[in-house]
Amino acid sequence: VPGSVTLLAGEPGIGKSTLLLQALWWMADAGATCLYVTGEESVQQVRLRAERLGTLNRHLWLVSETSLPHIIAHVDALKPDVLAIDSIQTMHDPELGSAPGSVAQVRGCTHHLVQQAKARDLTTVCVGHVTKDGAIAGPRVLEHIVDTVLSFEGERHHSLRLLRALKHRFGGTHDLGLFEMADAGLEEVPDPSALFLTDRHPGVAGSVVAPIMDGQRPLLVEVQALVGSDENRGGSPRRCAQGLDPGRLATVLAVLDQRARVKLASLDVHALAAGGVRVVEPGADLALALALTSASRDTAIADDLVACGEIGLGGELRQVGQMSRRLAEAARLGFHRAIVPESAPAAPDGIELVRVRTLPDAIGAAMAHRPEGRRMLAK
Ligand SMILES: Nc1ncnc2c1ncn2[C@@H]1O[C@H](COP(=O)(O)OP(=O)(O)OP(=O)(O)O)[C@@H](O)[C@H]1O
Ligand SMILES: [Mg+2]
Repeated sequence: VPGSVTLLAGEPGIGKSTLLLQALWWMADAGATCLYVTGEESVQQVRLRAERLGTLNRHLWLVSETSLPHIIAHVDALKPDVLAIDSIQTMHDPELGSAPGSVAQVRGCTHHLVQQAKARDLTTVCVGHVTKDGAIAGPRVLEHIVDTVLSFEGERHHSLRLLRALKHRFGGTHDLGLFEMADAGLEEVPDPSALFLTDRHPGVAGSVVAPIMDGQRPLLVEVQALVGSDENRGGSPRRCAQGLDPGRLATVLAVLDQRARVKLASLDVHALAAGGVRVVEPGADLALALALTSASRDTAIADDLVACGEIGLGGELRQVGQMSRRLAEAARLGFHRAIVPESAPAAPDGIELVRVRTLPDAIGAAMAHRPEGRRMLAK
């Protein structure tokens, strides 16, 4: 949107500069004049990257600069349609006095850029670094000032990258961009569900697939659990949740203990959402509970089965939104059965629903459908 200011936030090294260069190239290719300001790398370094990514374009201009007044002078000279600042933490305004990178500078520079953007109808994108635990002197203080906040995420050791909108003044925040980091830069992931399941190893205890919603997109994610075999002697047992909310893991463990007699209180428990994806919705509760049960009994659950539902503290299963779309995605990928809350809508073609009211019923149903040599294929 002309005159809008977007913050592109992400951890160091996740690929922000890469995404920005590729995005600017798309706009430059469409004829927009773009100015990329780098405060972190030399012009040669950015040019090398642009060559590697194949994003050289005569409408895409590059300058290495950290002083805000100098940047404004470049804007005056070039009159770009789009201005990109990489990163906001390296910029400084001499008038503000405080040190570059300080909260006052970061906030002051952003304020100034927002004013310029509105006055000139200049589309502006600022990169902001965040650390694992949120932000120190970082983008959090900027979220109120800018129009749009995009978060670029992923595990650094996985090639998968997720781009999501945390705030957007000009549209919805439901959409999710999924990319893979390759040699030639970020590539669109055409079939994310299949990607998440590619390395799945069937027949192993502690694995259940959940159809979750990430924004408007249904995604099939493998939830895995591992339970320590020994009673923890002294100290409290380990609770490790990766890609899953630790609070939900604790709740699911408590409900399993109290309502389904799956006793894991004294054992180490590891749970993860495979593939580097982050599951933030309750629809994966049931898959997590079944994965934990399967792990504790060292009994695999049929690999053509998915499970979806929120677990209440009473051990009851609750409906989650967009169930039809989730189940359709599971059917598309070759799953034959789904354990769902009783109130779930009718099943799409190709998948049979096992409707259950409570967590113990769900465990009974999952254990009744043991693996029987029927292999499901994730294509
Ligand atoms: N020559 C290369 N070939 C393939 N991939 C590369 C190459 N150089 C960098 N990468 C990938 O790009 C990633 C870094 O991307 P980028 O510099 O865009 O991240 P960033 O978020 O801007 O980092 P920073 O926080 O340092 O600014 C690396 O982690 C690596 O995966
Ligand atoms: Mg960078």
